[in-house]
Amino acid sequence: MSLIMDAIKSSFTEKELHNLNYPFKTIPAMKIAKLAVDETALARYKGIGSFMLKAAEEKAVSCNDDYCAARFLTVDADIEHDEGVLIFYEKNGFISNSELYNKNRKTISMRKDLYR
Ligand SMILES: CC(C)(COP(=O)(O)OP(=O)(O)OC[C@H]1O[C@@H](n2cnc3c(N)ncnc32)[C@H](O)[C@@H]1OP(=O)(O)O)[C@@H](O)C(=O)NCCC(=O)NCCS
Repeated sequence: MSLIMDAIKSSFTEKELHNLNYPFKTIPAMKIAKLAVDETALARYKGIGSFMLKAAEEKAVSCNDDYCAARFLTVDADIEHDEGVLIFYEKNGFISNSELYNKNRKTISMRKDLYR
């Protein structure tokens, strides 16, 4: 897994959903740039992918204590190689972003609120 800093644009409706009462359209985030579990580990440890997402979430929350800002954990779900990853992220609390998505739909931009 690799994590990078990110920023997402949120619509009025999305901001209402997350109770974001400030005037900026762009919201800071941490992004899962890469995530893959080795097949041997996948077979041995059920739930290891979700465990990695929890670890990413903890990193994203704790970065706020160290001069860094993240309200969301984000990911571009790679549906080109496996459409099922969308379900994986949804089961782990991610929802699709309405404003930011790859127009050729090889990936779907998703977010998880770190504070709700
Ligand atoms: C995606 C990946 C990280 C998931 O890891 P994992 O250890 O299988 O995930 P988990 O066991 O924690 O899965 C949690 C839930 O999501 C479901 N799920 C996981 N991967 C899924 C998939 N590809 N399709 C459908 N459902 C999936 C699981 O069945 C499980 O459901 P349950 O809680 O009802 O049993 C792993 O399959 C992987 O490395 N894939 C290849 C790389 C990849 O696609 N990375 C994502 C790029 S954006």
